[in-house]
Amino acid sequence: MLRRLYSEQPASFEYTPANLAWAEGQIAKYPEGRAQSAIIPLLWRAQEQQGWLTKPAIEYVADMLGMPYIRALEVATFYFMFQLQPVGSVAHIQVCGTTTCMICGSGDIIEVCKRRIAAKPHTLSADGKFSWEEVECLGACANAPMAQIGKDYYEDLTAENFEKLLDQMEAGNVPLPGSQAGRYSSEPAGGPVVLAEYKGTGAAHNGSVQRAVDIGDTIKRIDGTEVPLLTPWISKGAGHGSVPKAPAAAKSAVQQAADAKKAEPKPAAGVAVSENGATKQEAEAVSTGTPDAVDEKQPELLTAAREGKADDLKKLKGVGPKLEETLNELGFYHYDQVANWTPAEIAWVDSRLKFKGRIERDGWIEQAKILAEGGETEFSKRAKY
Ligand code: FES
Repeated sequence: MLRRLYSEQPASFEYTPANLAWAEGQIAKYPEGRAQSAIIPLLWRAQEQQGWLTKPAIEYVADMLGMPYIRALEVATFYFMFQLQPVGSVAHIQVCGTTTCMICGSGDIIEVCKRRIAAKPHTLSADGKFSWEEVECLGACANAPMAQIGKDYYEDLTAENFEKLLDQMEAGNVPLPGSQAGRYSSEPAGGPVVLAEYKGTGAAHNGSVQRAVDIGDTIKRIDGTEVPLLTPWISKGAGHGSVPKAPAAAKSAVQQAADAKKAEPKPAAGVAVSENGATKQEAEAVSTGTPDAVDEKQPELLTAAREGKADDLKKLKGVGPKLEETLNELGFYHYDQVANWTPAEIAWVDSRLKFKGRIERDGWIEQAKILAEGGETEFSKRAKY
């Protein structure tokens, strides 16, 4: 299947403050220098926030994790769970079409999708409210056919009850997930034939349906305002808005960089990919590109932007919002500061960024010189941040 970025993309992406705090909490699960391991939950949260995964969102997450964009794009385009095109504003319906569901009638459900939503999957309905796709087994075969809508499973579907679900969602209601045939769980349709004396707890719904009812968010998106975002492994009161901030993020950028530098494995000459995931080129930049070969010298740092007005460092190719924040925290706010870095100063800055060799590889100095004189580079003309 061809999976590529959608032809139209928004100009930018940012997590909501609550989602940002949640994302920092996810990063805190991993050892220092291994933040990249958090990429899937972070991309997923970005998708939950806006419904689908945009290019700016992928790049935002890559910047946050200190990864080259291509690495994040590889993940986003590999996994089918990431929606690379807009989805319905109310719901994206994932109909299981695998064997059990197919035998039990998923074809009928797909026909309803084609008639009521769009003839082709991954296409918005005329009113933009719905989209659909066929997916592989979702593990609810005992209650086939089924569809995942938002965060929940809707089971024991028929063309008739599925149309009713669509009607409810169209009317702005959140339908009850679980079996649409009145089954409590996945007991036989005629009732339990073993352990018949255990008739359940007497509760109206099984655990997962009850949880969906309690949260009431089954087909809604997560913007962090309605559902508490849980990061229980972070001690209470660590403080970042309403959600504790990740311990690693609480350190200054300089301190983090210094710590990372101490812990960072150095790629050996000739090693294609270093232990910390650097590419062959990045490893070569370290071993032969000389940022580490020259003595480091601290450039002149500013405590704040001159006259309170910082240059837009994101106009430098390779600098995204997260990296710009790191540069600001280090004390760099202006193009002319970057333009005047000497090789020793480049080595100092380089060693404090997560991917060595980035400054030279992306040609920051040359770009900064042009921008400092009021000119534009090919990249800055296109940059939409
Ligand atoms: S075959 Fe549809 S859920 Fe398993």
